[in-house]
Amino acid sequence: MNPSEVLVLTAHPQMEQSRVNRTLYKAAKKSGHATVRDLYRLYPDYLIDIEAERALLLQAKLVVWQHPIHWYSMPPLMKLWVDEVLGFGWAYGPDGHALRGKDLWLVSSTGGPDDSYRPDSYNRYHFDAFLPPYEQTAALCGMRFLPPLVLHGAHRVGADELQVHADTFVQHLGSYPNWPELAGLDDCIDCEVPESARPADAVEAALVESA
Ligand SMILES: Cc1cc2nc3c(=O)[nH]c(=O)nc-3n(C[C@H](O)[C@H](O)[C@H](O)COP(=O)(O)O)c2cc1C
Repeated sequence: MNPSEVLVLTAHPQMEQSRVNRTLYKAAKKSGHATVRDLYRLYPDYLIDIEAERALLLQAKLVVWQHPIHWYSMPPLMKLWVDEVLGFGWAYGPDGHALRGKDLWLVSSTGGPDDSYRPDSYNRYHFDAFLPPYEQTAALCGMRFLPPLVLHGAHRVGADELQVHADTFVQHLGSYPNWPELAGLDDCIDCEVPESARPADAVEAALVESA
């Protein structure tokens, strides 16, 4: 696949202190399989170039969000990217079909080990319980949410295991969309947002803004 069709968005607030996400970021860049963007390096002032981000999204078939889990969710710049780039009338809502048919893949890491994400441990919920906001964000935009690649217990992972993880990541980037785990994956559920979901003047303002 052309590297412009696989878009990796990496977001780590302290990339210089990262071990896992920096390793994955560097491996993806070196592979040449994808367009790889370090959001915190591109936007240290949090002023996201919305048009540039959208132009890259339009070319992509696979969009990868690669970030550590912070407070059971995404780091703040990644969230701002979602807020600003996935606009009403562009990514969702009336005529908001720019991302329809594309795939979204979460590649993440947690400090908590696998067995901390259980009802009888300190994270109390299985890790999947934290994923519906991601999955529904994808669905609202007409995207399939692919099975995430998550490395748990990131602080204790040895060099060999980290290397295997990075290899798995790169192998997926290079072989997309021919992943065995995608066979039989359902198409995205249709989540059409009716115009009536928002007051008419708000709809108008959003559409003018995204024009
Ligand atoms: C502000 C902050 C919040 C965090 N929240 C979580 C969390 O909710 N769950 C968890 O398992 N780990 C949490 N962690 C640990 C990170 O997920 C972990 O440090 C990271 O995945 C390691 O990757 P890295 O080597 O790329 O930094 C948090 C870390 C920070 C700094």
